[in-house]
Amino acid sequence: MSAQRQDAVKRLAAPDIAARKGKTPIVCLTAYTAPMAEILDPLCDLLLVGDSVGMVVHGLPNTVGVTLEMMILHGQAVMRASKQAMVVVDMPFGSYEGSPEVAYANAARVMKETGCSAVKVESGPAVAQNIEYLVQRGIPVMGHVGLRPQSVLVEGGFKAKGRTNAERDRIIDEARASAQAGAFAVVVEGVAEGLAREITEDIEVPTIGIGASAYCDGQILVTDDMLGLFDWTPKFVRRYADLRGEIGRAVGAYAEDVRNRRFPGPAEIYFAKTA
Ligand code: KIV
Repeated sequence: MSAQRQDAVKRLAAPDIAARKGKTPIVCLTAYTAPMAEILDPLCDLLLVGDSVGMVVHGLPNTVGVTLEMMILHGQAVMRASKQAMVVVDMPFGSYEGSPEVAYANAARVMKETGCSAVKVESGPAVAQNIEYLVQRGIPVMGHVGLRPQSVLVEGGFKAKGRTNAERDRIIDEARASAQAGAFAVVVEGVAEGLAREITEDIEVPTIGIGASAYCDGQILVTDDMLGLFDWTPKFVRRYADLRGEIGRAVGAYAEDVRNRRFPGPAEIYFAKTA
């Protein structure tokens, strides 16, 4: 084994995350860029290159317009800048639902071109067989049940899920089907505490909650939301910083300095060398 290989930090992988079921909560955040991935990597167990990148970074109204190419580009950036956290890349709308073969071709491309450790799919009723097909062919998969943002056009908005008995049963079935198909973990989004608890107790793999209470085996948030980069955040987000305010203050101060010729000052300019 080469010295380089011996020195390499071991990156967390799907079995490490799966083994955390019912143990220390799994810390997950989204990452889309290299600088952010570098900051988050030593602090998180799992970085998700979420298709929320379409809304957060590219200003799209929802995640439906996100492409495979966008996910690959952001996945590559996050992989380059991280070394210990497991990196999972979201499969975008239209890239995995149609058939197991299409899902495999696209997921294999994401794995090869980014070097990530797994992909995530939104686990609608027709998707469990595709999860099984990928896992059996060597691609670790994370499921996603409850509020499924890629279904926003069918649902008519981003609404909390599982409020009727029929919907509760369907979501439990979908979580169960994802786990039985071989998913190593399942994201549970936008459901009431009781349902999150029931799913967590029911399935054998970790649940990662977002707007789904502390009963899950881990938590994930959109990093830009918890850092306060937007003026509005959903009810389930805790804002740990006010970066929007900080950036506004910093840029305001810069603009003042430029307009008053206080920037650049002597410390920020080059001087000719004295011969
Ligand atoms: O796209 C995303 O960021 C997600 C998470 C927030 C779970 O799916």
